Amino acid sequence: MIHKEKLKEQYEKELQLFEKSHPKSKELYERAKGSLLQGVPMNWMVKWAGSYPVCVASAKGAHFQDVDGNDYIDFCLGDTGSMVGHAPEASVKAITEYVKQGTTFMLPTEDAIWCGEELSRRFGMKYWQFSTSATDANRFALRLARQVTKKPMIIAYNWCYHGTVDETVAIMDENGNTVAKPGNLGPQVDPGKTTRIIEWNDIPALEEALKKGDVAAVLAEPVMTNCGIVHPEPGYHDALRELTRKYGAVLIIDETHTICTGVGGYTKAYNLQPDIVVVGKTIASGIPCAAYGFSQELGDRVAEAIPYELCDIGGIGGTLAANALSMHAMKATLSEVLTEDFYARNIPLATKFNEGVQSVINEFDLPWNTTQLGCRTEYWFRKEPAKNGGEAEAAVDFELDQYMHLASLNRGILMTPFHNMALITAVTTEEDIDKHTAVFREIVQNIL
Ligand SMILES: Cc1ncc(COP(=O)(O)O)c(C=O)c1O
Repeated sequence: MIHKEKLKEQYEKELQLFEKSHPKSKELYERAKGSLLQGVPMNWMVKWAGSYPVCVASAKGAHFQDVDGNDYIDFCLGDTGSMVGHAPEASVKAITEYVKQGTTFMLPTEDAIWCGEELSRRFGMKYWQFSTSATDANRFALRLARQVTKKPMIIAYNWCYHGTVDETVAIMDENGNTVAKPGNLGPQVDPGKTTRIIEWNDIPALEEALKKGDVAAVLAEPVMTNCGIVHPEPGYHDALRELTRKYGAVLIIDETHTICTGVGGYTKAYNLQPDIVVVGKTIASGIPCAAYGFSQELGDRVAEAIPYELCDIGGIGGTLAANALSMHAMKATLSEVLTEDFYARNIPLATKFNEGVQSVINEFDLPWNTTQLGCRTEYWFRKEPAKNGGEAEAAVDFELDQYMHLASLNRGILMTPFHNMALITAVTTEEDIDKHTAVFREIVQNIL
């Protein structure tokens, strides 16, 4: 069992170790406080384990180096933004050559057509649109779902994350009501007015929430990945498709993270039939862009529902959306990096990572579990894998989390922050995985 006093003691020791080995990051953090709010360029960076964030110098493949010269195995990979590995040769070449001929025109380039065709081939969706982030893609998908259905409400899942989409910064309270997520910053409207939050894998709750007939869309990750990896139970996706059809709601499947499953995400691998698919982050090797694809049927309805003269002011936009550079980067990524070979190589390594973690859990009889989806793995502090977001959230242990992250970091391993997720890229090695298993064992042993 975890020894709470030891955990505190060890965390203090790790903090000292961190400060000793990251003096330059500290110096830069102190300087940053003069111009960046709270000393960081993006607010949630304050939450990284450690006294201040590690400042990155450069990265290649599955590793990065910080400004103090420390080397890390990167299992975070920009929380999927760099799932393809840092600076893959083919993308670097394509991007650096292309950038010389201009980056953004507000006009289409042929690459965009290639990307649409390739995404259709992969995901089976007929028509595609592009945006600058997956958050935007989700927001636009929700808007269009409301536009075509003329219905106001959205269904999302307890402890889901789909980016900073207002309707989804919500949870279910103990009475089953939809309320703002703790920490929701200045909600523009009470999310209870826009959203019904239900638990994942609860088919009766899904039907109950749809029954009133006022739901424009259900927004779902095909496997929840932001409260640990929470798989669907057998039959859940069939019910989700059947019930959304029955009650006239658009089914939006957000593959931003589940693209870790394979070239066509979970949708292709499990033959899902959504109305809209959203994909983002890694599809252009970290150049900001995302895509959302429509079924033929919904796409035709959407095209009809957008008034021609007013389409520039209708709330779907982004000056840099579908910019030429991002389309070229996406083409290079899809054609040369994020290929069948990529997954064939890294999914077995993810399995090895999981087996390593599981061996330590077994050795010390820890009440933890570990789960895998394609090249993504995650350990969680409860005995059995959670069935839904509520169960997963109940097992969150902030102190333990911070310790595991910091102790890993001090030993040259970066895990995805705020949960214990690891992504394996094509150039992660067996040695990298073995090192993680050894470090995981050592840092767990230190708090028993
Ligand atoms: C499932 C899912 N969808 C969408 C997003 C939003 O992506 P972005 O922050 O790139 O807009 C995230 C971010 O983590 C996500 O996990």
